[in-house]
Amino acid sequence: TGLFQEQKKLLCLGITGPEGHVISHSEEVETEAVYRAITIAKQSNCPLYITKVMSKSAADVIAKARKKGMVVYGEPITAGLATDGSHYWSKDWAIAAAFVTSPPLNPDPSTPQYLTSLLACGDLQVTSSAQASFSTAQKAVGKDNFTSIPEGTNGIEERMSVVWDRAVATGMMDENEFVAVTSTNAAKLFSMYPRKGRIAVGSDADIVIWNPKETRIVSANTHNLNLEVNIFEGLEFRGVASVVISGGRVLLEDGKLNVTEGSGRFIPRKAFPDIVYKRIKARSKMAETRGVPRGNYDGPVHDVISMTKSVPPTPTTRGPPCPKTLTGPRNLHQSGFTLAGTQIDDHIPRRSAQRIVAPPGGRSNITSLS
Ligand SMILES: *[C@@H]1O[C@H](CO)[C@@H](O)[C@H](O)[C@H]1NC(C)=O
Ligand SMILES: *[C@@H]1O[C@H](CO)[C@@H](O)[C@H](O)[C@H]1NC(C)=O
Ligand SMILES: *[C@@H]1O[C@H](CO)[C@@H](O)[C@H](O)[C@H]1NC(C)=O
Repeated sequence: TGLFQEQKKLLCLGITGPEGHVISHSEEVETEAVYRAITIAKQSNCPLYITKVMSKSAADVIAKARKKGMVVYGEPITAGLATDGSHYWSKDWAIAAAFVTSPPLNPDPSTPQYLTSLLACGDLQVTSSAQASFSTAQKAVGKDNFTSIPEGTNGIEERMSVVWDRAVATGMMDENEFVAVTSTNAAKLFSMYPRKGRIAVGSDADIVIWNPKETRIVSANTHNLNLEVNIFEGLEFRGVASVVISGGRVLLEDGKLNVTEGSGRFIPRKAFPDIVYKRIKARSKMAETRGVPRGNYDGPVHDVISMTKSVPPTPTTRGPPCPKTLTGPRNLHQSGFTLAGTQIDDHIPRRSAQRIVAPPGGRSNITSLS
C-alpha cells in the first residue's frame, strides 16, 4: 500500500529516525480513514466510535458528520490534547521515539487547542489516556528503522490534569463537563452507567478528590511510571488529583501510588445501550417502511439500448434491480483503501453510460451518464 511505499522511500533516503513515522503517516491519511469509516458506518446504519482523534481535519470530519445526524463519537487522547508532533524531530532519539504512536501527534502546534475546543463544545465526547508506554530499551527495537519502533505513549497519569488545565482553567468547560468527558460519557457509551460514571449508592466506589488550586510540573523524575521519558516533561498543569479511590481502595494519596497487580475486575455490560442504539433502531424501522405503495404502471414501455449489458425491459419489473445482485456483497473487514486511489472492488464492472433512446414520458436523445 501507499504507506509501505512511503516508508520504504524514506528509509532509502536515509531517514531512519522517528521523524519518518510522522512523515509517512500524514494528516490526510488519518482524515481519509476517518471519513471512510464514517461513510461505511452510515451505509450500514451502524454507530461508530473513533479513538485517537489526532488532527484538526479528522476532528472536523467527525463534527460535520454529527451535525448531519450521524451516530458517531470521537475521542481525543491525553497526548493529542497536551503536546504536538514537533518532538519527532528532537535531536535526542529516546525523546523522539517516546512520541511514536498512530495516528502520530500532529506537527501543527495549534492542534491541541483545537481538539480541546471541540471537546469543550461537545463535537468530541470522551478523553482517554491511550496509555501504551514502552521503556527506551523497548522503543530501541526500532533504533535503526522507525517502522519497528513500538507504538504508544504515556498519558494515564496526566489525563485529568491535562483536561482541567487546558479546558476548565481556561474557561472553555465547566466542572460538570469535565466529569462528563473524563468519566460519565464513556461509562454511558460503553454501557457501564450507572455502575461507573456516577457517585451514588449502588455504584462502584471509584472516586477522585480533585484539587483545582494545586499545580504540578510533569517530570520523568517524579512520575509514577516505570519510564525514562515522559512526553509531557516540563509541562505545568493546573489541577491535581489529591486522592484516588478505586473500588473503595485508596490508590493514591499525597502523591503516593499504592496499586496491587491483578485487582482489576471484569465488568459485565448490556449490549446495545439506548444512548447509542435508540436512534439506530428507529432508523432501521424507517428504512423498512420507505417503499411507496402504488398501482402498477400500465403505460407503454420502450426498449433501452445499453452500451455494455442489455437489460431487457419487463413490464412487471418495478424499479432497478438491487445493486447487491450486480456488484456482490462487499467485505467490510478488508479495507480497499490505498494511496494510489485503487479500490478493492475495482475489478467489478461499473454501470457505464447509457443512451436513453425513448424514455417514458417523451422522446429525447439526452445522453445520461450514471
Ligand atoms: C525496516 O523494518 C521493516 C519491518 O518493520 C522491514 O520490512 C524493512 O525491511 C526494514 N528496512 C530497513 C532498511 O532496515
Ligand atoms: C496498600 O494497599 C494495600 C491494599 O489495600 C494495603 O493493605 C496496604 O497497607 C497499602 N500500603 C500502604 C503503604 O498504604
Ligand atoms: C439529438 O440532438 C442533436 C443535437 O444535440 C440534434 O441535432 C438532433 O436533432 C437530436 N435528435 C433527435 C432524434 O432528437
